[in-house]
This record gives sequence, structure tokens and C-alpha cells, in this order.
Amino acid sequence: MAKQEDPPYPPLIDADDAAANEVDAPAARWDSAVPAPAEDVELKIRRQDDPFTKPYWQRFRLPAYPGDNVVAVLRALRLNPVTMEGERVDPVAFEHNCMEEVCGSCAMLINGLPRQACAALVAELARPIVLEPLPKFPLVRDLMVDRGRLFEQYKRVKAWISIDGSWDTHQPGLVLSPQQAAAAYPYSRCMSCGCCMAACPQYDETLDFVGPAPLAQVRLLNAHPHGRHERTERLHAIMGTGGLSDCGNAQNCVRVCPKSIPLTTAIGELGRATTVQALKDLFGD
Ligand code: SF4
Ligand code: SF4
Ligand code: FES
Repeated sequence: MAKQEDPPYPPLIDADDAAANEVDAPAARWDSAVPAPAEDVELKIRRQDDPFTKPYWQRFRLPAYPGDNVVAVLRALRLNPVTMEGERVDPVAFEHNCMEEVCGSCAMLINGLPRQACAALVAELARPIVLEPLPKFPLVRDLMVDRGRLFEQYKRVKAWISIDGSWDTHQPGLVLSPQQAAAAYPYSRCMSCGCCMAACPQYDETLDFVGPAPLAQVRLLNAHPHGRHERTERLHAIMGTGGLSDCGNAQNCVRVCPKSIPLTTAIGELGRATTVQALKDLFGD
């Protein structure tokens, strides 16, 4: 067989440099990155093995490092799930993904408040740290819930923009002005975590209220140059049973939203928009 020729390009790293890097890099990294354990923290966790069995509480004590958030402590607990009484138990089930308050998956009750576990710093929490699953959503196991119910509410209000054909025709789509973009930005930050729904006294499985997050999406999409085409449909969806008029204006939603989305401002603006829409329905445009 003919000998293969070397590729006609030089190696990316000189062999001598690579060897030097291998010696120096790990020492520099580990010297500075491993802090000493700061303190032992106590966790009190509400557990439930499945949706059909009764919940129960378990307490754990484990070391927390400076800067740890609740997800970091729960991950450490998963490696050694032993209660304060010394019993080895099943690891605690919980969800997380982005670790930077963007995906919304780690929402849970932390010391009684709906919030993101990845953004809850252990050093700032009262002890014991009490963790419970997010209420108002069906429980899967331990701290995991099924937030599918929130997405069902999005469907009720058509919380999307239908494809308008601009992609197929290769025409540029409508563009937001800087002013429109600035006004839309706060609402576009919603990560569908469900915290506002969990805090809302008007929202639960027995009531029909659509909830604050879907209402804010109506506000966002109705103002969008592409979304405006389905504006009337969305307004009609929130004008009937379970819509805007079911909001009791308790303002819990806006207090707990991790993204500081102006939910009650959205609700107020939608109130005016639905009034105008009702007049149009009566008397025509
Ligand atoms: S203002 Fe109150 S009732 Fe209305 S959506 Fe927010 S928490 Fe729910
Ligand atoms: S409005 Fe805020 S609290 Fe509600 S789902 Fe969106 S990000 Fe979460
Ligand atoms: S892990 Fe994504 S928001 Fe917490």
C-alpha cells in the first residue's frame, strides 16, 4: 500500500508548547478553584414518590461552598442521599438545565416562595432551607412538576406568531422599530417557569383563569408587527370565561416573577384593549 502523505498544513499547536501547557494548566486551575467548605446547611425537603402517594418530609445536612446555589446543593445531595437520621434514601428528583435563570426548569418553592433554584444563593437563605414542589402544577416526583398545564394556557390565547409566508417568498419580514423593540423586550424575557402562576390566587386546576404569563404573551404578540394580524383572535380569547376579568389584581404575580416582567402593566393595558375591542364588536371598526 502506498504511504499516505502528511497533510499540507502545519499542526495547530507546536508539540513543545502542548507539553508545557499540560504541566502548567492543571496546577493553576485547581489551586484557585476549590474553596474550602463554608458551612453545613440543613435542607428540609417535601418528598412524594409519585402523584398517587402521600407526601412526606425529610431532612438532610450537607456542606455548602461559598457561592453555592440551591441546585448545586441538590446535586451534591444526589451523590450521597443520607438523611439527618442516617438513613440512605432515594436521590431527590428535581429539574435543572441552564443554571443561569433562562430555561425556567428549576422553579420550586424555596422557603415558601416560588423562585428559581439556580438563582437562589444558599448564603442568602434562612435555615433550614425548605424546598417544596411548585404548587398549581401536577406533581411528577419530589420537586419535579409537569408544567404542561402552562403550555395548554398558551394554546388558549394563541401565544405564537403564525408563519406569514415571508420565508417561502424570500421577502424580508416586518422589522420592529427601536421603540417597539424596547417596549417588547421586557415581555420577551418570559422563560415559562410558572412562578407567577404558582403565586396567583386566581389560578389553579379547579378554576378556569388563564393566568398571568399567557396574558403577558398576548400583550407581547399583539404589539408585534407580525403578531398583530391575530390580535383580535387573542383578545377574544381573553374576553370570555377564564379571561382577563378573572384577575383579582392581587399582584402576587409581578412580585415573584424572576424576570421582573411587568405583568400587571400588561393586564392593565389588555383591559383597555379588550374594552376597545368590545366596542368594535358592538359597533364595528
Ligand atoms: S394580579 Fe393577582 S390575580 Fe391577577 S394575574 Fe397577578 S396574581 Fe393573578
Ligand atoms: S411571567 Fe415571569 S414568573 Fe411568569 S412564567 Fe414568565 S418568567 Fe416565569
Ligand atoms: S436551571 Fe434554568 S432557570 Fe434554573
